[in-house]
Amino acid sequence: MASDTLTITDNRTGTLYEVPITDDTIRAIDLRKIKVNADDFGMMTYDPAFMNTAACRSAITFIDGDRGILRYRGYPIEQVAEQASFLEVAYLLNYGELPTKAEIDAWEHDIRYHTYVHTNVIKFLEGFRYDAHPMGMLLGTIGGLSTFYPDAKDVHDPANRKIQKIRLMAKLPTIAAFCFRHSRGLPYEFPRNDLDYIGNFVNMTFSIGGKHEPNPVLQRALEILLILHADHEQNCSTSAVRAVGSSGVDPFSAVSAGIAALYGPLHGGANEAVLQMLDEIGTKDRIPAFIEAVKNGGDRLMGFGHRVYKSYDPRAKLIKQVAYDVFQQTGLNPKLEIALELERIALEDDYFISRKLYPNVDFYSGLIYQAMGYPTDFFTVLFALGRLPGWLAQWEEMITDKEQKIARPRQIYTGEDARDFVPLVMRK
Ligand code: ACO
Repeated sequence: MASDTLTITDNRTGTLYEVPITDDTIRAIDLRKIKVNADDFGMMTYDPAFMNTAACRSAITFIDGDRGILRYRGYPIEQVAEQASFLEVAYLLNYGELPTKAEIDAWEHDIRYHTYVHTNVIKFLEGFRYDAHPMGMLLGTIGGLSTFYPDAKDVHDPANRKIQKIRLMAKLPTIAAFCFRHSRGLPYEFPRNDLDYIGNFVNMTFSIGGKHEPNPVLQRALEILLILHADHEQNCSTSAVRAVGSSGVDPFSAVSAGIAALYGPLHGGANEAVLQMLDEIGTKDRIPAFIEAVKNGGDRLMGFGHRVYKSYDPRAKLIKQVAYDVFQQTGLNPKLEIALELERIALEDDYFISRKLYPNVDFYSGLIYQAMGYPTDFFTVLFALGRLPGWLAQWEEMITDKEQKIARPRQIYTGEDARDFVPLVMRK
């Protein structure tokens, strides 16, 4: 008769072990009872990069990588991107349900009235060099915010967590915009609480002399991009937020760890790398040689491939549509032609087909950001702005999960066995 257990035979000893199966998963700790003798530590699993290990239970985001499905709290990303505002999505991710009118009004109001940062933040932003990478500035400054809000240490108080989330949601756009202005040598433009979340951010980045004429199509396009980035279950930066947050540190520090992870070229830094790649390719006739170099292992096709999606990333599909809307406003970017041709060739090539490599969220997003007027090194900051609600929702879920403890993986020790220390004078 079928039972929800797994029977394991240890061929070293001939012993049989029965391990419970829940949600198609066994608990790694249940393997610890598999021992050769009583002194044995017990069996562990080895899973570098967590390729097949669930580290938490989560009710926030569902992904089916083979079928190209992404849902926030059960809602398909296509519907959310078309119909929701970014702050509605942030609310949905953090509270589990779409907000009522009263709830979204209160959420927007609270965020709107926390957009200012202490003037000392401006002082330490000014300490960064003129050419400092905005992601380096952002991660340092968000980490630094923890010193302004020592009350944020009380991570086990739900009301306290709420206020810190509002602060982060409100202040990250301000700091991101200040980083943008710093790298251009422009004076900081202060938040305007009469504008909505996106409008205020765009104004803080692009306003000159207090004036900026908003383009509603570009603003909605930016909002859709932020929505598409808002959460993506246990990716590298979210895992960083969870792991660092599991130590009980305040959310400003945990989120700055997420920003650090996102900075890397294999994660959020990929949109920046896509633009560099398109620049290097330069013209369409050089694409075949580039593809050959990729296939020979010399390069990676940036913006392609994903740990989870083994079909077309549903966000990339939506972003491609947004790209057309944006380019109608701004005029066609010649790099789009190179990107489209790269995609066409790659999707017909056996190297990419056999490895299930499809465009990911970063393949087209950089082109759109560039058309909107953002410099390449700012793209990942925009990603961070979008991902913040997801980091916060996942951080809260981790804090309130009774099964979670401080993150602390095991290792297989491969170093020297015990040996006696050799004094310096006796070393050869
Ligand atoms: N170009 C060329 N070959 C690739 C690419 C790529 N972009 N991605 C994977 N491959 C190849 C690998 O060389 C490997 O081939 P092999 O089996 O012959 O050795 C195979 O496909 C599997 O690749 P892995 O690196 O094992 O896949 P993994 O799941 O570890 O990596 C990752 C996923 C990091 C996203 C990878 O596809 C990559 O480097 N892509 C380019 C960077 C990128 O676009 N990152 C953004 C990801 S989305 C996000 O973070 C928002």
